[in-house]
Amino acid sequence: MKADDLLGYYRPGSLHFGADSSVSTASRHWFYSTMKQQNSLFGRVPSVIEESAASTHQYVLGDAECELRRLVSQSRLIADITEQVMQRAGIKRGMSVLDCGCGVGDVSLLTARLVGSAGRVLGIDRSVAGINRARERAAEAGLPNVSFEVVDDLASFRPPAPVDAVVGRLILMYLREPAAILSHFARQVRPGGLIVFQELVLSMCRSEPSCPLAEKCGGWIHDTFLLAGADVDMGWKLFATFQQAGLPGPEMFLGSPVGAGPDSPMYRHIAETVRSLLPMMEHYGVLRLKK
Ligand SMILES: C[S@@+](CC[C@H](N)C(=O)[O-])C[C@H]1O[C@@H](n2cnc3c(N)ncnc32)[C@H](O)[C@@H]1O
Repeated sequence: MKADDLLGYYRPGSLHFGADSSVSTASRHWFYSTMKQQNSLFGRVPSVIEESAASTHQYVLGDAECELRRLVSQSRLIADITEQVMQRAGIKRGMSVLDCGCGVGDVSLLTARLVGSAGRVLGIDRSVAGINRARERAAEAGLPNVSFEVVDDLASFRPPAPVDAVVGRLILMYLREPAAILSHFARQVRPGGLIVFQELVLSMCRSEPSCPLAEKCGGWIHDTFLLAGADVDMGWKLFATFQQAGLPGPEMFLGSPVGAGPDSPMYRHIAETVRSLLPMMEHYGVLRLKK
């Protein structure tokens, strides 16, 4: 089984063009989009389910214990790519960083190591369970330079002082108005600072040779995200989203975990993602639709 990953990043002077100013974006996709066109809702008229999903706007993966654990194992698959994104973008020692949609804190913890004891990181997320877990993990890791805060409404959140960088991984895809939120967060960054996002491109994922079970799971995952209003190909839209937010188009690159053989962690990742999505799959009738 193999997976590709799209990572993009850019170094303009967004707010301020110049050597010390960069906007960086990265987007990732992984394998479970395999055969999406055949398995997905594309080409079909959206149903009532889809409309009701858009109105409830519930976060599709939830924050049950299994999801909190899945975030940690997902992060193990892509941490090296994220670190590369951060370094290429220019995250350095001493910086102050805001991690938007931090989940259980993986990007915050990684970034806290990069900025060192002279820097600091604040992770924000609306999940109380996620933030509690992130705090426990930061204490276990002995990282006093990272803190976490529950934030219900990203659009009205302001850090106490402008930060050197705003970062986020797999968050814009879940927001109703990603460009508006991006624009809001860009205003929280000091002139010449960094904006770094890593997002999913599900449509590039595949297995080779074809694996029917992975493809079936990929179809369920894809359809559930779609019905919940998540943008599964947000990575492709990063450039446009930055521009809509009033920023220059980001510098971008593509990266991906790749797995093969019976011991590949990819299988577990697919299974864990299906498990986290199960309540919403049932809610939307995705499994029924697929029969
Ligand atoms: C897929 S997780 C990614 C977590 C983390 N960035 C990582 O890569 O491990 C998406 C996170 O976004 C958070 N989230 C989704 N919508 C949100 C919103 N409107 N406001 C704040 N957090 C949100 C969820 O609670 C979840 O923790």
